[in-house]
Amino acid sequence: VRDGNGVKGMVDSGISKVPQAYIQPAAEQIDKENASKHGQPPIDLSRLDGPDHDEVAKEIVRAAETLGFFQVVNHGVPVDLLESLKDTAHNFFGLPAERKAVYRTEVSPTPLVKYGTSFVPAKEKALEWKDYISMVYTTDAEVLEHWPIECREVALEYLKRSLEMVKKLLHVLMGNFGVELDDSKIDSLIGRKTVNMNYYPTCPNPELTVGVGRHSDMGTLTVLLQDGIGGLYVNIPEDADTDKKGEWVEIPPVPGALVINVGDMLQILSNGKYKSAEHRVRTTSTKSRVSIPIFTIPKPTEKIAPLPQVVENDGIARYREFVLADYMKSFFANPHDGKKSLDFAR
Ligand code: SIN
Ligand code: FE2
Repeated sequence: VRDGNGVKGMVDSGISKVPQAYIQPAAEQIDKENASKHGQPPIDLSRLDGPDHDEVAKEIVRAAETLGFFQVVNHGVPVDLLESLKDTAHNFFGLPAERKAVYRTEVSPTPLVKYGTSFVPAKEKALEWKDYISMVYTTDAEVLEHWPIECREVALEYLKRSLEMVKKLLHVLMGNFGVELDDSKIDSLIGRKTVNMNYYPTCPNPELTVGVGRHSDMGTLTVLLQDGIGGLYVNIPEDADTDKKGEWVEIPPVPGALVINVGDMLQILSNGKYKSAEHRVRTTSTKSRVSIPIFTIPKPTEKIAPLPQVVENDGIARYREFVLADYMKSFFANPHDGKKSLDFAR
């Protein structure tokens, strides 16, 4: 698997049961029958432009403060673009192994693109049932030269359209603290952007595996396109104001919608007001699933600390300043093992 065609290659070669290396400890296996669905309807972002602005802004803030996950519709990213993205992802992973394997970390012709399987295979006790390609954005010209030719145009268009929406969401989320967003502030919040395409092949024993193990996202905001298969589960925080705390809820696929979630950096910048939620992905036996996240994060050189405006209002800084690059290094070096304690920054 490590030097070939990922989990997909293994499944295509014909297996009737999950190899031992992919069997999760009982505590990590996902009991589908027991999960409820997140019932919150998607937020209609077109209403931000009309008389309902304040009401919608409140919904966004409330979602970021509670679950840290919500869905949006009328988000400005064309729905036919989303459809072609899903097709593009299926086509990409359907390419011959050699075409994908050129982007394996050890051999990739560019530091911008990485193809891989699982998350940190060398250190994981059980591997994740997932292949992925990760594409870092620098400039249009550069990515149109270095991202894989099979997906570069559609992925770049998705990124650009989504960033317009991310900026609107940040205006709302930062405006709530009285923080004005000019271009340089936006750049300091989302200076680094990555588009991933995830592929979860069919799995003969979904109940024994995970597509992605428990984690929270590291960045500012994540935008996620998921297909209609389902399998994304979010843990309700222990400090939530509901009797469901600690339970897993599924973020159900909604046609045309995008999933938005808060990352660790936004939690820290907001002095703990906005929550980065732990989530994970189940596999299925009948159909392969694709998801296409955009990760936005400050530049690695950036010093991260709670925003002064929030600290002033709260009377206390709940996190200490640190350099993002240090956090990133540890994030990418360790297997998914739950939401990171952000206490290191306290
Ligand atoms: C992830 O959170 O890493 C992937 C989410 C998904 O595939 O739905
Ligand atoms: Fe994630």
